[in-house]
Amino acid sequence: MNAGIIGVGRYLPETIVTNLDLEKKMDTSDEWIRSRTGIEERRIAKDDMDTSYLAYQAAAEAIKNAGIAAEELDLILVATVTPDQPFPTVSCMLQDQLGAKNAAAMDISAACAGFMYGMVTAKQFIETGAYKYVLIVGVEKLSKITDWNDRNTAVLFGDGAGAVVMGPVSDGKGVLSFELGSDGTGGKYLYQDKYIVMHGREVFKFAVRQMGESSINVLEKAGLSKEDVDFLIPHQANIRIMEAARQRLDLPIEKMSKTVHKYGNTSSASIPISLFEEIEAGKIKDGDVVIMVGFGGGLTWGAIAMRWGK
Ligand code: UT7
Repeated sequence: MNAGIIGVGRYLPETIVTNLDLEKKMDTSDEWIRSRTGIEERRIAKDDMDTSYLAYQAAAEAIKNAGIAAEELDLILVATVTPDQPFPTVSCMLQDQLGAKNAAAMDISAACAGFMYGMVTAKQFIETGAYKYVLIVGVEKLSKITDWNDRNTAVLFGDGAGAVVMGPVSDGKGVLSFELGSDGTGGKYLYQDKYIVMHGREVFKFAVRQMGESSINVLEKAGLSKEDVDFLIPHQANIRIMEAARQRLDLPIEKMSKTVHKYGNTSSASIPISLFEEIEAGKIKDGDVVIMVGFGGGLTWGAIAMRWGK
């Protein structure tokens, strides 16, 4: 039995904060942010919109898009490092709000690679036949752990949510291969104290290396080569990191998803948000080989090669 994506959804808060808005608040410039990161603006959730609110909007859309009822979900996985509170988890809050009365629920904490960890976890349950439908949500309200006086981090992040429903798909479709990894020795480069603390240069070097390597690894595991790749969906942290991954795969620019300019780095939400937008734009078609790859604090990373379609 193969596990694939059968529905997608996403939610972005309405409030747009541009680089020019940030220029007025801190010692930075639109030119610096654009040239070093590719970010032009980001979405910030209102105070009364917590993580579970963002997650619910994306999840409800993904379930509708999958054409199933919430009662049919067997498992809800929410990848987040900014839950409303440690417990009850966001996944349990969703289980209640969605009326998914037959679903188990847990949160996954793997920072920006969390959505990859969620999809790989779901794949195991589906392929063993233990569960049929799994909802995976990548969601962050990073604005609540951002130090708005720290220009090293404040210009990078945004809030948002992306969701998919995974279920059984036909032979040859769905997840073909995956790689997950961690390196706790790099925990000191990106962590939450009260706010996000980051040693940008170190994370940058790690990310450039890992995004390329993991993409190549999942291709090899799937028995595919670079020429087979139709679309790359990298974690949207920094256009320079994304470009390095694209070049490692020798892909033309139009085959890489880019939403970082609009939404900044939304951590675990960035891959499903980008996936949603590419599908909506008709860029990903039935039978396409899609590579998704992410990295994050921990350090963690994950990649998936999949053949699109049900
Ligand atoms: O999801 C995972 C999360 N993290 C990441 O993906 C981050 C990975 N790292 C990066 O994306 C990059 O390292 C950054 C965008 C964070 C920084 O770019 P960089 O090219 O590595 O710059 P840098 O840290 O070496 O800083 C260059 C200069 C410094 O000034 P000095 O020391 O050379 O005088 C910084 O103080 O830029 C300064 N700077 C800023 N200037 C204007 C740092 N942040 C800003 C800012 N505006 N917002």
